[in-house]
Amino acid sequence: MISDLLNSPSTGKYAVLFTILFFGGIETFAGHIKNSNRTRDDWMSEIGGFFLVSFASFVGLFGISYLGKIIFPDAYYSMAGLSLWIAAPLYMIVDDLAQYWYHRSAHEHNFLWKHHRVHHAAEQMGVMVSFRNSAMYFLFLPNVWIAAIFTFLGMIPATVLGLIVKQLIVASSHSTFKWDEYVYKIKALSPVMWVIEHIFVTPSFHYAHHGKSKADNISDPNGNFGNAFTLWDQLFGTATFTRKFPTEFGLQTDSKDSWSAQLFYPFVTSDKPGSELAKGHKKISSATNEAIAVELEAGTHLWCQCGFSSKAPFCDGSHHGTKIKPIAFEMKKKRKVKLCNCKHTKASPFCDDTHLKL
Ligand code: FES
Repeated sequence: MISDLLNSPSTGKYAVLFTILFFGGIETFAGHIKNSNRTRDDWMSEIGGFFLVSFASFVGLFGISYLGKIIFPDAYYSMAGLSLWIAAPLYMIVDDLAQYWYHRSAHEHNFLWKHHRVHHAAEQMGVMVSFRNSAMYFLFLPNVWIAAIFTFLGMIPATVLGLIVKQLIVASSHSTFKWDEYVYKIKALSPVMWVIEHIFVTPSFHYAHHGKSKADNISDPNGNFGNAFTLWDQLFGTATFTRKFPTEFGLQTDSKDSWSAQLFYPFVTSDKPGSELAKGHKKISSATNEAIAVELEAGTHLWCQCGFSSKAPFCDGSHHGTKIKPIAFEMKKKRKVKLCNCKHTKASPFCDDTHLKL
């Protein structure tokens, strides 16, 4: 019975719909949908993204099947006999490692960032946020093609099982139903949670990735890239575990682009001034050859290191789409300081007069 279910690609589709209805049902029941500030553009981006990823999966599945039978006819179903105990972990590792690097690249390279920024423009979490990405993002998404290749090779039960596990983790890590928040309150379960969060992506881990700014000492929009497993973030030095939840989500400078520009850039561009999705948009340097004197309150501050911030010398999130991150620093008490704005200081974030030698 179970093996029959796993042998049908349709089971994966029903599992996706089930998780949306399950977590969406909890969110509705808890009043999160009714009290949501989502705009029409938010809803359209989420529903549109759902149809786009479904369409991309369809293209991947039939494209690989059609081309595969012509180019590699002997490979068709050639691995159907591989044990599920080997095929399922193999699929999950390949799928998740590919997604880690694709997702991380979408934060570090400007071309891909423009196709992923709609995901981070969401100011509220929710199960449908996981579908917010552009058409081009889904078309290049390696996971669409990996699932199609595993299916072509005959490892259908492993692919379907992997998709079910992944969908459960991804839906729960975006949902407003933060299951781990309840478990963290039970002290006796702390060691168990340590093991769980060091393997699987939890709501706390992924909420930190969606937080607006690192200045809250919880968020890390430039880290926690993992989709199903946290192992890759730990291995490649991008993991942050706080067991806390940010209260502010979204982009620091959001141009509030239309859903059509967010989903179909560059075929549809934004008419909003300064938008990253506007035709011909380029990042403009705000670095200057002099220091900026400011009086800082006690607390955490973020110094812009990329030189593109419109709020220099502080970070405004313009570093998205580059590999450069802001530098967080702590002020114990209110003080007047000179912050570097030439971006060449060796005593960051403070000016060390390097600009005088430039
Ligand atoms: S805007 Fe964040 S580092 Fe420059």
